[in-house]
Amino acid sequence: MTMLRSAGEVVLPSRPLSASELDIACASGDYDVVVAQLTDRFDAALLARASIKGIANYAVGFDNVDVAAATANGVLVCNTPGVLTEATADLAMLLILATARRCVEADEFTRSGRFEGWRPELLLGADVSGAALGLAGFGRIARATAKRALGFGMDVRYTVRRGPIPDGELGELAGRVRYLPWTELVRTSDFLSLHVPLTEDTLHLIDAATLRSMKPTAFLINTARGPIIDEKALVDALRSGEIGGAGLDVYECEPRLASGLAGLPNTTLLPHVGSATRSVRARMAELCADNAVAMAVGEPPRHPVNA
Ligand code: DGY
Repeated sequence: MTMLRSAGEVVLPSRPLSASELDIACASGDYDVVVAQLTDRFDAALLARASIKGIANYAVGFDNVDVAAATANGVLVCNTPGVLTEATADLAMLLILATARRCVEADEFTRSGRFEGWRPELLLGADVSGAALGLAGFGRIARATAKRALGFGMDVRYTVRRGPIPDGELGELAGRVRYLPWTELVRTSDFLSLHVPLTEDTLHLIDAATLRSMKPTAFLINTARGPIIDEKALVDALRSGEIGGAGLDVYECEPRLASGLAGLPNTTLLPHVGSATRSVRARMAELCADNAVAMAVGEPPRHPVNA
Protein backbone atom coordinates (compact mmCIF):
# COMPACT_ATOMS: atom_id res chain seq x y z
CA MET A 1 0.00 0.00 0.00
CA THR A 2 2.83 2.40 0.89
CA MET A 3 4.42 1.72 -2.52
CA LEU A 4 1.11 2.35 -4.29
CA ARG A 5 0.46 5.56 -2.36
CA SER A 6 3.85 6.92 -3.48
CA ALA A 7 2.33 7.21 -6.97
CA GLY A 8 -0.85 9.06 -6.01
CA GLU A 9 -4.31 8.47 -4.60
CA VAL A 10 -5.23 4.82 -4.03
CA VAL A 11 -8.83 3.62 -3.85
CA LEU A 12 -9.23 0.25 -2.12
CA PRO A 13 -12.70 -1.29 -2.49
CA SER A 14 -14.00 -3.01 0.64
CA ARG A 15 -14.82 -6.15 -1.41
CA PRO A 16 -14.01 -7.52 -4.89
CA LEU A 17 -15.88 -5.56 -7.58
CA SER A 18 -18.58 -7.28 -9.63
CA ALA A 19 -18.07 -7.43 -13.39
CA SER A 20 -20.32 -4.43 -13.98
CA GLU A 21 -18.73 -2.42 -11.15
CA LEU A 22 -15.29 -3.10 -12.66
CA ASP A 23 -16.57 -2.07 -16.08
CA ILE A 24 -17.99 1.20 -14.70
CA ALA A 25 -14.82 1.96 -12.70
CA CYS A 26 -12.58 1.37 -15.73
CA ALA A 27 -14.75 3.61 -17.94
CA SER A 28 -15.15 6.36 -15.32
CA GLY A 29 -11.95 8.20 -16.11
CA ASP A 30 -11.19 8.26 -12.39
CA TYR A 31 -8.42 5.65 -12.47
CA ASP A 32 -5.11 5.41 -14.32
CA VAL A 33 -4.17 1.92 -13.21
CA VAL A 34 -6.15 -1.05 -11.92
CA VAL A 35 -4.53 -3.60 -9.61
CA ALA A 36 -6.34 -6.78 -10.63
CA GLN A 37 -6.70 -10.36 -9.50
CA LEU A 38 -7.13 -13.28 -11.85
CA THR A 39 -10.83 -13.33 -11.00
CA ASP A 40 -11.26 -9.83 -12.52
CA ARG A 41 -12.13 -10.18 -16.20
CA PHE A 42 -11.09 -7.55 -18.73
CA ASP A 43 -12.78 -8.49 -21.98
CA ALA A 44 -12.79 -6.66 -25.31
CA ALA A 45 -16.02 -4.76 -24.54
CA LEU A 46 -14.74 -3.49 -21.17
CA LEU A 47 -11.38 -2.53 -22.67
CA ALA A 48 -13.03 -0.65 -25.55
CA ARG A 49 -14.89 1.53 -23.02
CA ALA A 50 -12.00 1.78 -20.53
CA SER A 51 -10.03 4.95 -19.97
CA ILE A 52 -7.24 3.37 -17.93
CA LYS A 53 -3.52 3.30 -18.75
CA GLY A 54 -2.66 -0.02 -17.24
CA ILE A 55 -3.64 -3.25 -15.50
CA ALA A 56 -1.25 -4.63 -12.87
CA ASN A 57 -2.27 -8.27 -12.56
CA TYR A 58 -1.52 -9.90 -9.22
CA ALA A 59 -0.62 -13.20 -10.91
CA VAL A 60 1.82 -14.62 -13.40
CA GLY A 61 -1.08 -15.81 -15.60
CA PHE A 62 -3.00 -13.14 -17.48
CA ASP A 63 -5.74 -15.08 -19.27
CA ASN A 64 -8.27 -12.91 -17.37
CA VAL A 65 -7.27 -10.07 -19.72
CA ASP A 66 -7.92 -9.95 -23.45
CA VAL A 67 -4.36 -8.80 -24.12
CA ALA A 68 -4.94 -8.12 -27.84
CA ALA A 69 -7.88 -5.83 -26.96
CA ALA A 70 -5.80 -4.17 -24.24
CA THR A 71 -3.03 -3.47 -26.73
CA ALA A 72 -5.52 -2.17 -29.31
CA ASN A 73 -6.92 0.22 -26.70
CA GLY A 74 -3.52 1.39 -25.46
CA VAL A 75 -3.77 -0.40 -22.10
CA LEU A 76 -0.54 -1.84 -20.74
CA VAL A 77 -0.82 -5.20 -18.94
CA CYS A 78 1.72 -6.41 -16.36
CA ASN A 79 2.14 -9.66 -14.42
CA THR A 80 4.29 -11.10 -11.62
CA PRO A 81 6.61 -13.72 -13.16
CA GLY A 82 9.45 -15.57 -11.45
CA VAL A 83 8.54 -15.19 -7.80
CA LEU A 84 6.01 -18.03 -7.71
CA THR A 85 7.92 -20.59 -9.78
CA GLU A 86 9.32 -22.70 -6.94
CA ALA A 87 6.13 -22.66 -4.84
CA THR A 88 4.00 -23.75 -7.80
CA ALA A 89 6.48 -26.49 -8.73
CA ASP A 90 6.36 -27.67 -5.10
CA LEU A 91 2.59 -27.95 -5.43
CA ALA A 92 2.80 -29.88 -8.72
CA MET A 93 5.15 -32.34 -7.01
CA LEU A 94 2.85 -32.49 -4.01
CA LEU A 95 -0.10 -33.36 -6.27
CA ILE A 96 1.96 -36.07 -8.00
CA LEU A 97 2.91 -37.66 -4.68
CA ALA A 98 -0.44 -37.16 -2.95
CA THR A 99 -2.45 -38.56 -5.85
CA ALA A 100 -0.12 -41.51 -6.44
CA ARG A 101 -0.08 -42.44 -2.75
CA ARG A 102 -3.80 -41.73 -2.11
CA CYS A 103 -2.94 -39.19 0.55
CA VAL A 104 -6.43 -37.66 0.86
CA GLU A 105 -8.11 -41.05 1.14
CA ALA A 106 -5.50 -42.21 3.66
CA ASP A 107 -5.90 -39.08 5.79
CA GLU A 108 -9.68 -39.44 5.77
CA PHE A 109 -9.33 -43.14 6.62
CA THR A 110 -7.15 -42.39 9.65
CA ARG A 111 -9.22 -39.48 10.95
CA SER A 112 -12.45 -41.43 10.67
CA GLY A 113 -11.14 -44.07 13.08
CA ARG A 114 -10.98 -46.87 10.52
CA PHE A 115 -7.24 -47.53 11.01
CA GLU A 116 -7.09 -50.81 12.88
CA GLY A 117 -3.44 -51.64 12.32
CA TRP A 118 -0.96 -52.36 9.52
CA ARG A 119 -2.28 -54.53 6.69
CA PRO A 120 -0.31 -55.65 3.61
CA GLU A 121 -3.02 -54.50 1.21
CA LEU A 122 -4.04 -51.26 2.93
CA LEU A 123 -4.39 -48.23 0.59
CA LEU A 124 -1.95 -49.40 -2.07
CA GLY A 125 -0.85 -46.65 -4.42
CA ALA A 126 1.36 -46.16 -7.48
CA ASP A 127 5.14 -45.82 -7.66
CA VAL A 128 6.58 -42.38 -8.32
CA SER A 129 10.22 -43.41 -8.54
CA GLY A 130 10.88 -44.82 -12.00
CA ALA A 131 7.57 -43.50 -13.38
CA ALA A 132 7.40 -41.46 -16.58
CA LEU A 133 6.50 -37.81 -16.00
CA GLY A 134 5.27 -35.92 -19.06
CA LEU A 135 5.36 -32.15 -18.86
CA ALA A 136 3.10 -30.25 -21.23
CA GLY A 137 4.98 -26.99 -21.71
CA PHE A 138 8.53 -26.40 -20.54
CA GLY A 139 8.66 -22.90 -19.11
CA ARG A 140 9.88 -21.83 -15.70
CA ILE A 141 7.39 -23.81 -13.58
CA ALA A 142 7.67 -26.99 -15.69
CA ARG A 143 11.47 -26.88 -15.43
CA ALA A 144 11.34 -26.37 -11.67
CA THR A 145 8.94 -29.35 -11.50
CA ALA A 146 11.35 -31.39 -13.65
CA LYS A 147 14.20 -30.73 -11.20
CA ARG A 148 12.08 -31.97 -8.31
CA ALA A 149 10.85 -35.01 -10.25
CA LEU A 150 14.41 -36.01 -11.18
CA GLY A 151 15.22 -35.95 -7.47
CA PHE A 152 12.40 -38.45 -6.98
CA GLY A 153 13.88 -40.75 -9.63
CA MET A 154 11.27 -40.01 -12.31
CA ASP A 155 11.90 -40.33 -16.05
CA VAL A 156 11.14 -36.77 -17.18
CA ARG A 157 9.91 -35.91 -20.67
CA TYR A 158 8.44 -32.67 -22.01
CA THR A 159 6.75 -31.29 -25.05
CA VAL A 160 6.63 -27.77 -26.48
CA ARG A 161 5.22 -26.66 -29.79
CA ARG A 162 8.53 -25.51 -31.26
CA GLY A 163 10.10 -29.00 -30.91
CA PRO A 164 13.15 -30.16 -28.92
CA ILE A 165 14.87 -27.42 -26.93
CA PRO A 166 18.64 -27.33 -27.59
CA ASP A 167 20.75 -28.57 -24.65
CA GLY A 168 22.41 -25.14 -24.47
CA GLU A 169 19.07 -23.65 -23.38
CA LEU A 170 18.33 -26.30 -20.77
CA GLY A 171 21.02 -25.46 -18.19
CA GLU A 172 21.32 -28.15 -15.50
CA LEU A 173 18.48 -30.14 -17.14
CA ALA A 174 20.51 -30.76 -20.32
CA GLY A 175 20.79 -34.49 -21.00
CA ARG A 176 18.47 -35.30 -18.08
CA VAL A 177 15.10 -34.69 -19.76
CA ARG A 178 13.75 -35.84 -23.11
CA TYR A 179 11.55 -34.13 -25.73
CA LEU A 180 8.58 -36.16 -26.97
CA PRO A 181 5.91 -35.13 -29.48
CA TRP A 182 2.56 -34.38 -27.79
CA THR A 183 0.72 -37.57 -28.79
CA GLU A 184 3.59 -39.76 -27.64
CA LEU A 185 3.93 -37.84 -24.40
CA VAL A 186 0.22 -38.34 -23.67
CA ARG A 187 0.32 -42.02 -24.61
CA THR A 188 3.39 -42.95 -22.54
CA SER A 189 3.19 -40.80 -19.39
CA ASP A 190 2.44 -42.29 -15.98
CA PHE A 191 1.91 -38.73 -14.78
CA LEU A 192 0.96 -35.93 -17.20
CA SER A 193 1.46 -32.48 -15.69
CA LEU A 194 0.13 -29.35 -17.41
CA HIS A 195 2.30 -26.22 -17.58
CA VAL A 196 0.95 -24.29 -20.56
CA PRO A 197 -0.82 -20.92 -20.44
CA LEU A 198 -4.54 -20.82 -21.14
CA THR A 199 -5.05 -19.57 -24.69
CA GLU A 200 -7.48 -20.32 -27.52
CA ASP A 201 -5.07 -23.10 -28.56
CA THR A 202 -4.86 -24.76 -25.14
CA LEU A 203 -8.56 -24.50 -24.20
CA HIS A 204 -9.67 -28.15 -23.69
CA LEU A 205 -6.25 -29.39 -24.78
CA ILE A 206 -7.16 -32.35 -22.56
CA ASP A 207 -10.46 -33.52 -24.03
CA ALA A 208 -12.22 -36.90 -24.16
CA ALA A 209 -10.02 -38.14 -27.02
CA THR A 210 -6.79 -37.14 -25.23
CA LEU A 211 -7.96 -38.81 -22.03
CA ARG A 212 -8.76 -41.97 -23.97
CA SER A 213 -5.22 -42.08 -25.33
CA MET A 214 -3.64 -41.93 -21.85
CA LYS A 215 -2.62 -45.07 -19.97
CA PRO A 216 -5.48 -46.45 -17.84
CA THR A 217 -3.15 -46.13 -14.84
CA ALA A 218 -2.01 -42.57 -15.63
CA PHE A 219 -2.52 -39.54 -13.40
CA LEU A 220 -3.35 -36.08 -14.73
CA ILE A 221 -1.89 -33.13 -12.78
CA ASN A 222 -2.98 -29.51 -13.30
CA THR A 223 -1.48 -26.48 -11.57
CA ALA A 224 -1.87 -24.23 -14.64
CA ARG A 225 -5.41 -23.20 -15.59
CA GLY A 226 -8.64 -25.17 -15.27
CA PRO A 227 -10.11 -24.69 -18.77
CA ILE A 228 -7.10 -26.50 -20.29
CA ILE A 229 -9.04 -29.62 -19.26
CA ASP A 230 -12.56 -30.47 -20.39
CA GLU A 231 -13.62 -31.16 -16.82
CA LYS A 232 -16.77 -33.06 -17.71
CA ALA A 233 -14.75 -35.40 -19.93
CA LEU A 234 -12.27 -35.79 -17.06
CA VAL A 235 -15.01 -36.82 -14.64
CA ASP A 236 -16.22 -39.43 -17.17
CA ALA A 237 -12.65 -40.72 -17.68
CA LEU A 238 -12.02 -40.95 -13.92
CA ARG A 239 -15.34 -42.72 -13.36
CA SER A 240 -14.88 -45.26 -16.12
CA GLY A 241 -11.26 -46.00 -15.25
CA GLU A 242 -9.96 -44.58 -18.51
CA ILE A 243 -7.22 -42.93 -16.41
CA GLY A 244 -6.02 -43.70 -12.89
CA GLY A 245 -6.55 -40.40 -11.12
CA ALA A 246 -6.12 -36.63 -11.13
CA GLY A 247 -4.44 -34.05 -8.93
CA LEU A 248 -5.96 -30.64 -9.54
CA ASP A 249 -5.33 -27.16 -8.16
CA VAL A 250 -7.38 -25.33 -10.80
CA TYR A 251 -10.84 -25.88 -12.31
CA GLU A 252 -12.70 -25.08 -15.47
CA CYS A 253 -15.33 -22.82 -13.85
CA GLU A 254 -13.71 -21.79 -10.55
CA PRO A 255 -14.81 -21.90 -7.83
CA ARG A 256 -17.38 -24.42 -9.10
CA LEU A 257 -16.29 -28.03 -9.68
CA ALA A 258 -17.72 -30.15 -12.50
CA SER A 259 -20.60 -32.29 -11.34
CA GLY A 260 -19.36 -35.52 -9.76
CA LEU A 261 -15.70 -34.48 -9.44
CA ALA A 262 -15.78 -33.94 -5.66
CA GLY A 263 -17.17 -37.44 -5.08
CA LEU A 264 -14.35 -39.27 -6.87
CA PRO A 265 -11.85 -40.94 -4.53
CA ASN A 266 -9.07 -41.07 -7.13
CA THR A 267 -8.57 -37.30 -7.05
CA THR A 268 -6.66 -34.76 -4.98
CA LEU A 269 -8.50 -31.45 -5.19
CA LEU A 270 -6.90 -28.19 -3.99
CA PRO A 271 -8.43 -24.68 -4.10
CA HIS A 272 -6.00 -22.86 -6.49
CA VAL A 273 -3.19 -22.47 -3.95
CA GLY A 274 -0.14 -23.02 -6.19
CA SER A 275 1.51 -19.77 -5.18
CA ALA A 276 -0.01 -19.58 -1.71
CA THR A 277 2.95 -19.23 0.62
CA ARG A 278 3.28 -16.14 2.77
CA SER A 279 6.58 -15.02 1.26
CA VAL A 280 5.52 -15.67 -2.35
CA ARG A 281 2.31 -13.70 -1.97
CA ALA A 282 4.32 -10.85 -0.41
CA ARG A 283 6.76 -10.88 -3.34
CA MET A 284 3.89 -11.01 -5.84
CA ALA A 285 2.34 -7.98 -4.10
CA GLU A 286 5.64 -6.12 -4.28
CA LEU A 287 6.10 -6.83 -8.01
CA CYS A 288 2.48 -5.96 -8.70
CA ALA A 289 2.77 -2.65 -6.81
CA ASP A 290 6.04 -1.89 -8.57
CA ASN A 291 4.35 -2.44 -11.96
CA ALA A 292 1.34 -0.34 -10.94
CA VAL A 293 3.45 2.57 -9.70
CA ALA A 294 5.58 2.59 -12.85
CA MET A 295 2.48 2.67 -15.09
CA ALA A 296 0.85 5.38 -12.95
CA VAL A 297 3.86 7.69 -13.16
CA GLY A 298 4.46 6.94 -16.85
CA GLU A 299 7.66 4.92 -16.48
CA PRO A 300 8.28 1.55 -18.15
CA PRO A 301 7.09 -1.22 -15.78
CA ARG A 302 9.39 -4.16 -15.00
CA HIS A 303 7.02 -6.88 -16.18
CA PRO A 304 4.84 -5.80 -19.10
CA VAL A 305 3.22 -8.54 -21.16
CA ASN A 306 2.22 -6.33 -24.10
CA ALA A 307 4.84 -3.55 -24.25
C1 DGY B 1 -0.95 -17.12 -11.09
O1 DGY B 1 -0.15 -16.30 -10.61
O2 DGY B 1 -1.22 -17.12 -12.29
C2 DGY B 1 -1.52 -18.15 -10.17
O3 DGY B 1 -2.50 -18.92 -10.76
C3 DGY B 1 -2.02 -17.53 -8.88
O4 DGY B 1 -0.94 -17.13 -8.17
